[in-house]
Amino acid sequence: MNKIAILTSGGDAPGMNAAVRAVVRMALYHGLEVYGIEQGYKGLLNSEIFKMDRKSVSDIIQRGGTVLRTARCPEFKNEEVRKHAANILKEKDIDALVVIGGDGSFTGAKLLSKLGVKTIGLPGTIDNDLAYTDFTIGFDTAINTVMDAIHKLRDTSTSHDRVSIIEVMGRNCGDIALYSGLAGGAEAIIVPEVGFDKDELCKTILEGKSKGKQHNLVVLAEGVGGAEELAKYVEDVTGLDARATILGHIQRGGSPTVSDAVLASRLGARAVELLMEGKTCRVVGIKDNKIIDMDIDEALAVERKFDKDLYDVATILSY
Ligand code: ADP
Ligand code: F6P
Repeated sequence: MNKIAILTSGGDAPGMNAAVRAVVRMALYHGLEVYGIEQGYKGLLNSEIFKMDRKSVSDIIQRGGTVLRTARCPEFKNEEVRKHAANILKEKDIDALVVIGGDGSFTGAKLLSKLGVKTIGLPGTIDNDLAYTDFTIGFDTAINTVMDAIHKLRDTSTSHDRVSIIEVMGRNCGDIALYSGLAGGAEAIIVPEVGFDKDELCKTILEGKSKGKQHNLVVLAEGVGGAEELAKYVEDVTGLDARATILGHIQRGGSPTVSDAVLASRLGARAVELLMEGKTCRVVGIKDNKIIDMDIDEALAVERKFDKDLYDVATILSY
């Protein structure tokens, strides 16, 4: 193996650049040629492929987003389209591809490996919804961004004696809500894995009020959604002033935290080692602070377990 390529795919996540840097530098260290592909599988299909050197990844470890840019490419689900992509790589003598993305991107990588391209996946998503790994690249930065927003909303909610409903990202995974809600001292955390009862929530809010709480911070995962309607319902039932804040894409930006930059660097370095060992169709991740790798199909089949113990602790502590 002499030449490898790298792309970022799906939603961007802070730390993707640190991962790109790690892959490029580790590959060059081992004497490999490295090629960057712009805009994920879409760029691969358009042959947007360029040679990278150590300078291509200078000054990017601290940057949010992805310098390779990213895209969604629905046509990659079509086998003929994937064959075309594999041929483009073969014509350039590129034997292997590192894919940084989420489960959809991993599926694309797995299917490409069946066409003779060696593939390794790195978990890049703020959602932390890949069960085979304890943490995904971008999650830690996102929860710090959300925690910061919760602290700010606490200031204004306290000043106005208001209920604040804060809707956060995560698709169907409640981890962003759970971790940021606990760290932000939220009175209630609503996640799809546990569900909730609107009237129970109103009761909790009123109990908080009677205990002298001057604010009520409710973190709501987008997998449950409906922040505006919930704020209206809470106002109607409790008689308290309530506001909804949907944090949106701000959660995907910013410099990676130390945890994300270190995780991305470790995973990127390991991905190259795996390719040097002749491995393919695998993903890397972290378990109990050890870097692991796993077959893509097995990794995607791991059942996601919500940390109900942590959720219960958060609930008790917000009393
Ligand atoms: P993520 O990788 O973050 O889960 P998506 O689900 O949007 O994000 O997937 C990113 C890209 O991966 C898609 O736009 C598509 O190009 C590719 N992909 C997703 N699912 C498949 C699939 N079943 N087969 C082939 N490629 C896929
Ligand atoms: O998967 C990352 C994520 O930010 C999710 O939390 C969110 O639901 C989705 O992507 C938003 O996607 P888009 O960037 O297409 O609006």
